[in-house]
Amino acid sequence: MPEKLLSMTQKEMRELGYKVVDTLIEHFVTLEDKPVTRTANRAAMDHEFQKGFPQKGGSVDEVLTEVRERIFTNIMHLDHPRFFAFVPSPSNFVSVMAEALIAGHNAFAGTWLEAAGPGQIELNTIDWLCQLIGLPPSAGGLFVSGGSVANLTALAVARNVRLGNRMADAAIYFSDQTHSSVERALRVLGFSQEQMRKLPSDDLFRLDLQDLEDAVLEDRALGRQPFCVVANAGTTNTGAVDPLPALAELCTREKLWLHADGAYGAAAFMCEHGKEILNGLESVHSLSLDPHKWLFQPYEIGCVLVRDARHLKDTFRILPEYLRDVEQTEEQINFCDCGIQLTRSFRALKLWMALRIFGAEEFSSAVAKGFYLAEYAQGILESFKEFEIVTPAHMAIVTFRYVAPGLSEQQIDDINEKIVNSIIQHGFAMISSTTLRGRTVLRMCTINPRTTEEDIKQTIELIKGCGDRLSPSSY
Ligand SMILES: Cc1ncc(COP(=O)(O)O)c(C=O)c1O
Repeated sequence: MPEKLLSMTQKEMRELGYKVVDTLIEHFVTLEDKPVTRTANRAAMDHEFQKGFPQKGGSVDEVLTEVRERIFTNIMHLDHPRFFAFVPSPSNFVSVMAEALIAGHNAFAGTWLEAAGPGQIELNTIDWLCQLIGLPPSAGGLFVSGGSVANLTALAVARNVRLGNRMADAAIYFSDQTHSSVERALRVLGFSQEQMRKLPSDDLFRLDLQDLEDAVLEDRALGRQPFCVVANAGTTNTGAVDPLPALAELCTREKLWLHADGAYGAAAFMCEHGKEILNGLESVHSLSLDPHKWLFQPYEIGCVLVRDARHLKDTFRILPEYLRDVEQTEEQINFCDCGIQLTRSFRALKLWMALRIFGAEEFSSAVAKGFYLAEYAQGILESFKEFEIVTPAHMAIVTFRYVAPGLSEQQIDDINEKIVNSIIQHGFAMISSTTLRGRTVLRMCTINPRTTEEDIKQTIELIKGCGDRLSPSSY
């Protein structure tokens, strides 16, 4: 048998490494000049790439060229300064390099025995986030793939701690603005649709306290077992924040677990304005916060924090005989005991390196800029009679509608839907639509700190132009 398989010489590794780094730098420095959107249908993609198993290896250059010119040319750039759709992921170069270090060293961040250094960095980084939110010293958490798994992890803990995993008759409460990942997590955990009490939100798209209290009391009277409320710390639709201090009070009184989905919004705690809006977040039992959203990390990194870190271990820890050797002292945390994954990568490094190199103050300014840009966008929108603000700038999200006189609500819905399609075809920017109170609205999420005022202005002018062309008066 050959002595070395699947390996490269030093020279080959350096050459490949430099080419990859050059490709990435090229991506970063040319990004704002590239189209934001790029879509292709399945048939075109099917045609583009060979499907046969590559029995014999090919040249590095050939493969890299294919990667550069045919794969990464067929993506939307969620890190582009004019990507305002859904929740953008503005990323940063330090964390991208950290990803290379993470993959290159292939640390097994599941156990302390195999990764004491990464384990300590994860503990420290989690601790920074707990301190940021103002959670007590008992708090802890772990990094996961994203908000969906963070919500799943937290709700599994709530189920275990509050119900002892006996779920019959249990009831859980959240608003109709809650992210679908919460409902999916509950399905995975085995809750039925009837056990999920999705309550209509108030005029500001927040959980209505009175409705919540009534639903809890009604369920108790019917012999059901209310056990958890999921609050929003920044909804995906409008950035709405549920009334956290009042919810914390109600949950204490009614002995309910309070989980906050801050996958999108909790990072706003980095700046003073965000801290004011999110007042009360420090009182939750558990919290999701996604660094791959408003903390500028490349995918995938989400985070779940719990008020009492021991609850994670109580919920997830299993020690099989083949892992006996990893069991060490109490303080030496095995992260595999705290969540769903045994094998897990050293995600913490990218956030830790970016915070160390840029500093928390720069992060704070970057988050604050998101708030400012949404307000700036609102001002530009208001300067056109064709736009109606649906929800004003809040948590770096503004929603609006293109309106034209003499049109029915349905016609206006149709135009707004079509505007998004036109924007996608155009490529200059990307926005998305959603439905609020039954009406189609446009939505801009402005969390990219490299977005300029000019980017916002030109994007809104483009949207207006699309609306003008699509409205019947221009026929
Ligand atoms: C409020 C909220 N919760 C949860 C999620 C799900 O996060 P992920 O896509 O990282 O799983 C999102 C995603 O946008 C979100 O905005």
